[in-house]
Amino acid sequence: MDRRDFMHKSAFTLGGFAFLSSINNSFASALEKHVNRLETMGLEAGASDEDFWGYIRECYTVSSNIIDLNNAGVSPQPKVVQDTLMRYYQYSNEAPSYYMWRILDAGREALRAKLADLAGVSSDELAINRNATEGLGTIIYGLELKPGDEVVLGKYDYPYMMQAWKQREKRDGIKLNWVDVSEAADDDAALVDLYRKAISPKTRIVQITHLINWSGNIVPVRAIADMAHSKGCEVIVDAAQSFAQLDFKIEDTGADYLGAALHKWLCAPFGSGLMYVKKEKIKNLWPLLSSAEPQSADIRKFENLGTRSIASEMAIGAAVDFHNVIGAQRKEARLRYLKNYWVEKIKDLPGHTLYTSLKPANSCALAVIGFEGWKASEIEACLFEKNKVHVTSITYEKISGIRVSPNVYTSTKDLDVLIKGLRNVSQLPPPSGK
Ligand SMILES: Cc1ncc(COP(=O)(O)O)c(C=O)c1O
Repeated sequence: MDRRDFMHKSAFTLGGFAFLSSINNSFASALEKHVNRLETMGLEAGASDEDFWGYIRECYTVSSNIIDLNNAGVSPQPKVVQDTLMRYYQYSNEAPSYYMWRILDAGREALRAKLADLAGVSSDELAINRNATEGLGTIIYGLELKPGDEVVLGKYDYPYMMQAWKQREKRDGIKLNWVDVSEAADDDAALVDLYRKAISPKTRIVQITHLINWSGNIVPVRAIADMAHSKGCEVIVDAAQSFAQLDFKIEDTGADYLGAALHKWLCAPFGSGLMYVKKEKIKNLWPLLSSAEPQSADIRKFENLGTRSIASEMAIGAAVDFHNVIGAQRKEARLRYLKNYWVEKIKDLPGHTLYTSLKPANSCALAVIGFEGWKASEIEACLFEKNKVHVTSITYEKISGIRVSPNVYTSTKDLDVLIKGLRNVSQLPPPSGK
């Protein structure tokens, strides 16, 4: 870490502690003590330090009866975020139009700056909204395209984004060219090639899902974006799964447009997201809902979302502080460690298929596993019934298995229960008798 990085990191951490102590002083000082100890360790040692992560678990209010391993679906908030949210919510209820719109909303620009700092972009390029679907939908429907223009997207992109593009295809006569990323697995050069081959002289837009929800695989987003730019295309990045799971800045992806969810890996309130548009592209992107000046270059034109919970929006700040105090690099290392922990221990199980790459650059927290003869939903049901482990099943294209996604509050003990459950599945006859 050079001096500039160190100063920046310290400012982040100190700022985070200052904010967190304003919410709960004793909590903030205990957290600081633990973080200071972690900072004396290397990344690898820190990732497996159960004392530290055990303390982080105590910062959450997760069930002691159910092991939730579907954080890629939606994640719980640490208590400090819930407390902030509840405080703002109760405050709002004293006189909503006054406290919510005049008092709480006055924090919007400070929150935008805090999120922009986390994302490594200018505040003028970031809109706060309700989820990745809203951000990416605004981008997809807002781009000026004419009949015959082409868009390259992935078969393994998220359904809502694929559906939005299909609607534009029907309505506006654009043409979609699909990339099947499963053909290249985790071969980065081959992945770039697949996108390259799908681009024609008529291609205007390339959409890339940074971390694929179906498989857990990470794609070489920057290399694909650079190649697409060299062919004159603009790039949309779906960062719903990667934002705050992986340690990166938006600039690193090469995105012209990006959407992210904040209720997944940032552990911000349910129904929070962000949208990034490169400064010079804002003017030409139409707002989805309403704006007095739809062709303005002000990113705020995308925030006319009507009445929503300003308490939820403003509590995002506490989630950013909590995330910064742990540190993005530490968090990514822990999440990868947790995935490797269980995956290493099931290697010998008969009849299993792992759908996720084990190359460090190509996966992090998520992994998908299936068993011969078992429907994904049967594995999911068995794990819950016998072990109270909650996961989600994925049956899509070539994938048939359960997706496991731990978060920072997950302990290796939780994963031992998962391993026991998977071992049990491997020994049982498949329920549908195949
Ligand atoms: C890759 C990807 N994109 C988009 C979304 C949609 O996110 P949200 O529910 O925040 O709209 C998800 C949700 O799981 C996702 O995994």
